[in-house]
Amino acid sequence: MANTILVGAQWGDEGKGKIIDYLTDEADAVVRTQGGNNAGHTIVHGKRKFVLHLIPSGILRRGKTCVIANGVVVDPLALVAEITGLRKQGIPVGKNLLLSDGAHLVMPWHHALDEAREQRKGKNKIGTTKRGIGPAYGDKAARTGLRVGDLLDPKEFAEKFKARQRENNAVLRTMGAKPIPLQPSLRHYLAAAKTLRPFVTNTVVWLHGVMARGRGLLFEGAQGTYLDLDHGTYPFVTSSNTTAGGACTGSGVPPHRMDKVIGVMKAYTTRVGEGPFPTENEDVSELLHGMGREYGATTGRARRCGWFDAVATRYAAMINGIDELAITNLDGLDHVPVIKVCTAYRLGGKTLKHPPTSAADWALCRPVYRTFRGWMKDTSKARRFGQLPPAARVYAKALAELTGAKLSIVSIGAAHDETIRL
Ligand code: IMO
Ligand code: MG
Repeated sequence: MANTILVGAQWGDEGKGKIIDYLTDEADAVVRTQGGNNAGHTIVHGKRKFVLHLIPSGILRRGKTCVIANGVVVDPLALVAEITGLRKQGIPVGKNLLLSDGAHLVMPWHHALDEAREQRKGKNKIGTTKRGIGPAYGDKAARTGLRVGDLLDPKEFAEKFKARQRENNAVLRTMGAKPIPLQPSLRHYLAAAKTLRPFVTNTVVWLHGVMARGRGLLFEGAQGTYLDLDHGTYPFVTSSNTTAGGACTGSGVPPHRMDKVIGVMKAYTTRVGEGPFPTENEDVSELLHGMGREYGATTGRARRCGWFDAVATRYAAMINGIDELAITNLDGLDHVPVIKVCTAYRLGGKTLKHPPTSAADWALCRPVYRTFRGWMKDTSKARRFGQLPPAARVYAKALAELTGAKLSIVSIGAAHDETIRL
C-alpha cells in the first residue's frame, strides 16, 4: 500500500475510525500524528463496538502495528485506561503498540486549566472536550512541556513534575481554580509511566525502517479540517494541525514520501462544541437524534447537525490536497424527502465560494442551497454502487463533484461490510 493520509474534511466525527479500520487490511502500520484523547473513533466488529481515543484504530487487527507518533499529546492515565480496557475486551496490546518518546504529555494541571479557561470565557467558551488538549499544546509551544521520554527516569520525572506543578498551581490559584495536590497525583503518573515504558521508542526511526522495507503506512487523522489550529474556525478549533501537513510534522515522515490523501466526510454536516456552522438546521438535528445518531463518542454531547456544506469541503480538498473521498453516513438521509446542499455563501451582498477567515464573518454567512430529491429507501443493504437507489447515486456523485475529488468509498452503516468501494 502507498503511504496514505486520512483526514476529516469537516468538523470531526466524520467516521474516520470506521474507514481506517476498513483500509487497515492494506497497510502495515497505522499512525496517529496529532490530537489526543479528545478524539473518539468508533469501530464496530460484528456485534462488538469499540471506542478508541488515543490508540490508532488498527489495534483491533492482528499483525498490524499502531504508532502514537511525536505530534500527539498523550495523557498517560488515559492511555493506560485505554490499554487496560482493550485487553479486557480480549484485544492484545503489546508489541503491536509503539509510543513516541517525543510526544508531549497531558498533565493534571492541563485538565484544570482547560476547565478554568472555559469557565472564565462564559458564553464565549469554545466547548472543548476538557481533556487538557489546548493547555498541553500551549506548553509544547512555550517549550515548557513534559514529554513521554521524561517518563523513562522516575526520579527525574518526579522533579520535573513538582516544578511544573508548583508553577501551574500559582496560575490556577490566580484564576480562582483549585490547585493540583502533589499526592496522590504524582504516584498515579509514576505508576502509569511504569506501564507505558515498554511501548516507548523513537518512532521516527521505526517508521523510516518500515518504509525502507517497502511497506505502507496509514496515517489516521483525528478531528477535522475546520478544527485545525491554522485553517479552522479560530478560536473555535482544537490546538493541533488536523490537516494533511500535520501527518508529516507529527510523524517525521517527509511530505514527498506521502502518496495519497483521503478525505472523509459525512453526507451531511455535524459539529460538537461552539463556533460557526452556516448550514446548521434544527430539522436535520431532530431527525438524526431521533434515529439515535450523532451523540459524541468522547463526551456524549448531542452533536449539532445540518446540511452538507460544499463550500467547506471544497476548501478542505484544497488545503489537504484530497485525492479521494469517503462519504459516510449516507444512510442517515435514507428517509429525507428533500435534501439540501450548500454551494455558496452570501455575506454582505457578496457571494463567497470560500469560507471567510474570521469566525465572526463565517457566523454571518447565509448558505445558498441546491436541492436534491431524496431516495426514501433503506440503503444499508447495498454492497455495490449500482445497488444504491438512483437518487442516492446522484447525490453521492454530486457531493464528490462539488468537493472536487474522486469518490472512492461510500459508507452506509457502522459495520465493516456496510461499505461500498468504487
Ligand atoms: P474526532 O477525532 C469532533 C472539538 C471540541 C471543541 C474543539 C476544541 O472524534 O473527530 P479540544 O478538547 O480539542 O480543545 O476542543 O474541538 N473536538 C472535536 N469535535 N470530533 C473530534 O474528534 C473532536 N476533538 C475535539 O468539541 O469544539
Ligand atoms: Mg469522533
